[in-house]
Amino acid sequence: MNPNQTERIATIISASGETPYPEERGGQAPSDWLNQCHFGDCLETMRRMPDGIAQTCVTSPPYFGLRDYGHERQIGLEETPAAFVAKLVEVFREVRRVLRDDGTLWLNLGDSYAGSWGAQGHKTTTGVSGVQIANHPKRASNTGSIKEDGLKPKDLMGIPWRVAFALQADGWYLRQDIIWHKPNPMPESVQDRCTKSHEYIFLLSKSSSYYCDMDAIKEPAAKGAAGSSFHTGKTGEHQLGRASSKPRKSDSANDSAVPGASEHSGLHREGSEREPDERNKRSVWTVATTPYKGAHFATFPTELIEPCVLAGAPAGGVVLDPFFGSGTTGQVAQNLGRAFIGCELNPAYEALQAERLSQMGFILEAA
Ligand SMILES: C[S@@+](CC[C@H](N)C(=O)[O-])C[C@H]1O[C@@H](n2cnc3c(N)ncnc32)[C@H](O)[C@@H]1O
Repeated sequence: MNPNQTERIATIISASGETPYPEERGGQAPSDWLNQCHFGDCLETMRRMPDGIAQTCVTSPPYFGLRDYGHERQIGLEETPAAFVAKLVEVFREVRRVLRDDGTLWLNLGDSYAGSWGAQGHKTTTGVSGVQIANHPKRASNTGSIKEDGLKPKDLMGIPWRVAFALQADGWYLRQDIIWHKPNPMPESVQDRCTKSHEYIFLLSKSSSYYCDMDAIKEPAAKGAAGSSFHTGKTGEHQLGRASSKPRKSDSANDSAVPGASEHSGLHREGSEREPDERNKRSVWTVATTPYKGAHFATFPTELIEPCVLAGAPAGGVVLDPFFGSGTTGQVAQNLGRAFIGCELNPAYEALQAERLSQMGFILEAA
């Protein structure tokens, strides 16, 4: 990161009302947290961070009951969905504290079925521990103790919405359910339901009015019933520094077709001289899964989270990911001229992160 960028980040943090750094919070200045992954339990790590250090959080927690990340403090292997949800509420309460008051959370969550513990995992491809939970006690009993939650084998557990509603009840504003449509879903041998080809990204905010630069992620105004995939030409260095640094009112009609028209009105300008080239981004994002070859677990594709980073933080702003894994959020943040803070339980992933982040650092320096 070049000195100008560091200076801009320091300005943004102090504009957020930088707090002193008490001993119980580790005594570290905000800048000490930036552009690195902090290893350990994310809840404990975040408790040492100052208030308001990050502008946005972009993250993908472990699925419920799917993978064993090989660590005692890992989240995801709780006894019941209710226990899993309660744990995530605790984690995201701390995220809310470390976000600025106009901050946002972009939360990627996938669902799974009762009685299929570990069934959607894939085999470990590296020496880094990331095994399916085949030996987990719940697998032996097929459903384990999840009957406590009234779930039967084959029930869709609705984990993403359970988490979303619990976060809403805890004080977050639940602003949108974005559908991540996967054109290349994992094959399933089911014959009594459709093959699952989507996950959720929930947009939540700390306040009713928040920083959200929808101009930075406008999509081409395709005529007719065109899809809503993110236009790749608008990503990467193209967008470096493009995002406006002034917060936008989140609930403005931002559809650009007709003054006064909203997504709900269905109005369009007849006989207008010029159709708009761009429109407000739609809520279904078609992005192919592109597993990072070095990682054993589900990394989210860089293309999926580029819009979250662009809309969620201005150039120089700080992006937090408490479940950093291979460092995708850090890579995208660096590439788009934002700073990042990562938390990750497993220090074995440091090499993966270093590979991705140093590559992006090189591009930034060379640019
Ligand atoms: C779905 S993966 C995140 C993948 C990441 N988005 C990427 O693209 O590489 C979830 C990560 O959360 C980590 N994790 C699980 N429990 C944790 C905890 N209590 N604190 C910090 N990290 C944790 C796991 O080790 C795993 O790397």
